[in-house]
Amino acid sequence: MDVKPIVKWAGGKSWLVPALRPLIPKKMRTYVEPFAGGAAVFFALASETPRPFKRAILVDQNEELVACYRAIKGEVPALLKKLGEFVYDKEQFYEVRAWKTSKMSDVDRGARLIYLNKTCFNGLWRVNSKGEFNVPFGRMQNPKIKDEPNLMRASKALAHCDIRHGDFASALQGLGPEDFVYFDPPYAPVSKTANFTSYASGGFSADDQQRLVDAMVKLRGDGVGAVLSNADTTETQALYARFKHETVLARRSINSNTKRRGPTGELVVQNVLAPEKKKSKKKAVARAART
Ligand SMILES: C[S@@+](CC[C@H](N)C(=O)[O-])C[C@H]1O[C@@H](n2cnc3c(N)ncnc32)[C@H](O)[C@@H]1O
Repeated sequence: MDVKPIVKWAGGKSWLVPALRPLIPKKMRTYVEPFAGGAAVFFALASETPRPFKRAILVDQNEELVACYRAIKGEVPALLKKLGEFVYDKEQFYEVRAWKTSKMSDVDRGARLIYLNKTCFNGLWRVNSKGEFNVPFGRMQNPKIKDEPNLMRASKALAHCDIRHGDFASALQGLGPEDFVYFDPPYAPVSKTANFTSYASGGFSADDQQRLVDAMVKLRGDGVGAVLSNADTTETQALYARFKHETVLARRSINSNTKRRGPTGELVVQNVLAPEKKKSKKKAVARAART
């Protein structure tokens, strides 16, 4: 069963799956993604035969996205019916974009999110300070708004999944050594001039980045395996220096500033201690001379 992510998401990790897969166990009780987004790694694992986890937990702070996953899991026929009402049309796009969703059903919210994601400029989800989706209509050739086969497969994949709206910490209660966590938080800044201590992107502050380091340490203490990916910067290298980590080169696909689309590094961190650095030959010789 080959399931693709339902939405194109900023920071989507389909491209990183080959580098991450060897770090994720072949067999788990619970697989947890506390920053689900497009859940590329979850869908890649759910596509494997046999499925490597008994159950999964997906958490995200984006309410629209969580409503969408709930609708795909529990009400896929109604969702498909609703998606069938949408066409690739500028007027309909702005009408649907203006919907106030807070009192809507999961099906209406989910169909709206998929429709806007498939037809908006650059296929990304961005909201203004009031939390309203504000990406303009995109110019594309016949976008596939209703991908029925993939939505049916996604519904099956999500059948084994607990989907929750909330902070990442809520995904981490009661986990044990048979469980595994993949963290993919909003990126720490990549610009050399960015001030890390005051940086907040998508509401994810430097304090939140530190909470995440603490969560990695706590999981290690509880015997729970975890992997985390983040932008490879001097600051993230320092935050995760104690853990085993490697840099994987990427070409970020969602970035409205085309000048920043060059190759960028992703820091992939495991919550196991970094091997001790070998002492340099010079120091060893100096030590030997002293003794
Ligand atoms: C880099 S994206 C994850 C991308 C995902 N791995 C994929 O393949 O598409 C980060 C996600 O974290 C969510 N998020 C931001 N702050 C959060 C928090 N405090 N707790 C949980 N999720 C959060 C965002 O809504 C976003 O969907």
